Amino acid sequence: MLALFDPRLLNNRNDSKLPGYLPMADPIYQHCISPQCSAVQGIEDTSFLCPRCGGLVDVAYDWSKLTPPKSLRAFEAKWAERSNPLNFSGVWRFRELLPFADPDKVMTIGEGQTILQKADAVAAYVGLQPGGLFLQYEGMNPSGSFKDNGMTAAFTHARMIGVKRAACASTGNTSASLAVFCSVTGLMRAIVFIGSGKISYGKLAQALDHGALTVQIAGDFDDAMQRVQQVARRLGIYLVNSINPFRLEGQKTIMYRVLEALRWEVPDWIVVPGGNLGNVSAFGKAFIELSELGLVNRLPRLAVINAAGANTFYQLFEHSGLRWNQGKPDAAVTAGYYGNLDARHARAATIASAIEINRPVNLSKALRALEHCGGVVREVTDQDILDAKAKVGAGGFGCEPASAASVAGARKLRQEGVIEPGERVVCILTGHQLKDPTATVAYHSADQKTFDEVLGKRGVRRAAFANRAVQVPNDLDEIIKAIEVYS
Ligand code: F0G
Repeated sequence: MLALFDPRLLNNRNDSKLPGYLPMADPIYQHCISPQCSAVQGIEDTSFLCPRCGGLVDVAYDWSKLTPPKSLRAFEAKWAERSNPLNFSGVWRFRELLPFADPDKVMTIGEGQTILQKADAVAAYVGLQPGGLFLQYEGMNPSGSFKDNGMTAAFTHARMIGVKRAACASTGNTSASLAVFCSVTGLMRAIVFIGSGKISYGKLAQALDHGALTVQIAGDFDDAMQRVQQVARRLGIYLVNSINPFRLEGQKTIMYRVLEALRWEVPDWIVVPGGNLGNVSAFGKAFIELSELGLVNRLPRLAVINAAGANTFYQLFEHSGLRWNQGKPDAAVTAGYYGNLDARHARAATIASAIEINRPVNLSKALRALEHCGGVVREVTDQDILDAKAKVGAGGFGCEPASAASVAGARKLRQEGVIEPGERVVCILTGHQLKDPTATVAYHSADQKTFDEVLGKRGVRRAAFANRAVQVPNDLDEIIKAIEVYS
């Protein structure tokens, strides 16, 4: 079992003047994820990259100097004290497991009030036994997606530092989340970079309505992600994309809430859509820490589901054999893959616009997560995604297209026999159904032109689970007749 944190480091780093060493033994710091490098820096640093090797960093804790809970059940005491906003928050009621902020610095807007739904109708579609499939519905967050879990943590960190401007590149949900945190708290100015024409109207509407400075770049998410990092560095603007390790601290709590809803039992599988790979990285860190702290006795397996039109992680992990490799993933494999994408001018393309990403920034952290949780990666087509989405809508709270990739992926893994019929599976529904009504209406539409315009060009051929509106004249008898026939 890998430890994210090696306390011996703290003893060494006092003596060193090298970059990447701290002058004092603070129990909370940023730590390069590469075990070979292991550089550390203070939590006030906002570059979010290792000063020595340029790799990704974790927020790290010396638990021996902190007060983690003795059991996960200890968190149940917080339920009785929900008038305290920190206990009401589905993120901060677990604050002892992300203890980087003083409670009086926490910026919460009531995020994380989510539901784990036992969904037997969807279980039947996936090929699981009744009681075997759970949908973790993150659409109930204030901005309608899981991003608020991470944003409250990044925002808290930004507030600790006294930031006045925060920026992100986004396929729409991060920007909506940043915009709502800025509008509700009035603490910072939101600057969002989006690929022109690349985000759904529901999400664009949120950024505009909440007053974010919305920069539409003539390019896609991968372009916007590169640019926002350059701009943030140049102008000293705080970056809230998931390369920011404080974001991922907040997203760990999605797993704590899943465990809480399962009365602290670890499920067999967690299935999650993969875009920038922040969630899977956060989930892996959550479980590695829980097992280091002796709070769980086993780990779930993790499955990451790419859209087939944005399948970098699937290609690298399942076809090119890229692995964590003790912190040394083969850089030549990744460089070769991206070189080939560039040579072909290949761009990510999927109806699941939230995960229309070819260059996931958290690739190495995601590899680490899969290493420790026996992970797999699959790709699903837009057809698979929309069919699964219709099943989720018919059997649950509904979700946006990217979220349904988790259900489509679970079904595929069931068909392959990787997931067993009697296993307990949790699919993360990352975003609200109303985020992208265009895709939903086109799927259910009786109008072939609408279907073709939105979905046909994506290779979607049929809508097997469509629920078509019934057209009737404005006539009482005809209306009654239609209802009698169809209900
Ligand atoms: N599902 C939804 C609804 C998302 O919005 C995203 C990412 C993902 C899944 C993928 O999660 O990046 O952690 O692997 N959306 C980002 C955004 C990229 O800008 O809103 P990931």
